[in-house]
Amino acid sequence: MILMNDFKAETVALRESMLDATRRVLDSGWYVLGNEVLAFEQLWATACSVAYGVGVGNGMDAIEIALRALDIGPGDEVITTPMTAFATVLAIIRSGATPVLADIDPRTALLSIDSAARCVSKNTKAVLLVHLYGQVRSMVAWQSFCEGAGIKLIEDCAQAHLATLNGKVAGSFGVAGAYSFYPTKNLGAAGDAGMLVTGDELLANRAKCLRNYGQSVRYHHPEIGMNSRLDELHAAMLSERLKWLPEFTGRRRQVAALYRSGIQNAAIGQLVSPEADSAHVYHLYVITCEQRDALQAHLHERGVQSLIHYPVPVHYQAPCRDIKMDAMGLHASELHADTCLSLPCHPQMSDDDIMQVIDAVNLFCVK
Ligand SMILES: Cc1ncc(COP(=O)(O)O)c(C=O)c1O
Repeated sequence: MILMNDFKAETVALRESMLDATRRVLDSGWYVLGNEVLAFEQLWATACSVAYGVGVGNGMDAIEIALRALDIGPGDEVITTPMTAFATVLAIIRSGATPVLADIDPRTALLSIDSAARCVSKNTKAVLLVHLYGQVRSMVAWQSFCEGAGIKLIEDCAQAHLATLNGKVAGSFGVAGAYSFYPTKNLGAAGDAGMLVTGDELLANRAKCLRNYGQSVRYHHPEIGMNSRLDELHAAMLSERLKWLPEFTGRRRQVAALYRSGIQNAAIGQLVSPEADSAHVYHLYVITCEQRDALQAHLHERGVQSLIHYPVPVHYQAPCRDIKMDAMGLHASELHADTCLSLPCHPQMSDDDIMQVIDAVNLFCVK
C-alpha cells in the first residue's frame, strides 16, 4: 500500500541523527524549556525571517497564545475558514473570542477575501488565515484588507512550513504565525510540538509568559496562563529534522509536478497552480471528484491510501451548529468537503509509487 506518510521508510542517516539528538538531551539532564528549545526557536525564527520564535506544546496552542497575547478574547470576533483542521477554530473558542466563518475560494480552497469582507463587524479584531494544504497566496491583498479594516492578520502555518511568496515566508506576513510540528507535518517532531513566530518583541515576551502558567519570573504569575511548553527532546529532534526540510520539500514539489501533469481524467478536478513554485510546500496534494467516495475505494483497491481534508466543514461539527458565518452561506466549503481527496505526497515516495498513483487515478471511471 502506498501510504499517506511513511516515517519507517526515512533514511538511516536521519534516524541516527534523531537518536543522537535524544542522547544529547538525556546527557544534558534538562528536559523542558532549555538550551535545545532556545536553539530551535532561534533556528526556526531565522528560517521564517522573523526575530522571535516561542516554542509551545502544539500548533493549536500557538494560535490561542497568539490571540491571547494580542488581547483578543471575549467580545472580539476572529474571521477564519470552515475548511481547516478543527483546531484552528477551537483555538479561537478557547481564547474566549468568537469565530466567524467566511467561505473559501473553490479554485484554491483558501479563505475568500470577498466572503471575509462580508463577515467584518465592529467587533472584528483579526483574520486567522490558514495556509491550507501548504499554499501561501494573495498575501498583499490580505495585508491590505486587514490594514484597511483596522484588524490583525494572524497566520495558521500548520501546513505551510517555509512556503514563500515574493521572498517572504509563511508566518512573517502578519503580526504572528502559528506553526504545528505534529509528526505528519512537513517538519514534524516525534510527538506534539508547536511554535509562535513574530517580529514583535512584546508579543513574543507575552507569549513566553502565557505558555508557562502566566509566569513572568520564577514563581510570579501576573496573569492566567497555561502549560504549553516545548520539550527539549522534541526541540533537539526538530533541529536535526530541519536540516532535511529543504530536500524533503523539494521532493514534495516533484511529486506534485508529476501529479499535476500526469493526472488526466475528466472526472478529476485540480486546484489551481501556486503563484510561484516556492509558494506551495504540498503538505497535501488535493484533487476533487464528484464521485469522491467511489474514487477513494477504487484507489484503495489499487494499493493507494488516500484521506479527506476535510470531510466535515467546521459549521457542521456539533459544537459549532450556531457559529457565526457569512450571511451568503458557506456553499463552496460544503461542496469542497463533499468532493476533495488527498493523495499520498511525501518525500519517501519512489518514482514508481508516483506513477502507480497517477495510473490508478487515471483508470477511475464514473459509473
Ligand atoms: C491547519 C491546522 N491548524 C492547526 C492545527 C493544529 O496543530 P496541532 O495538532 O499541533 O495542535 C493543525 C494540525 O492538524 C492544522 O492542520
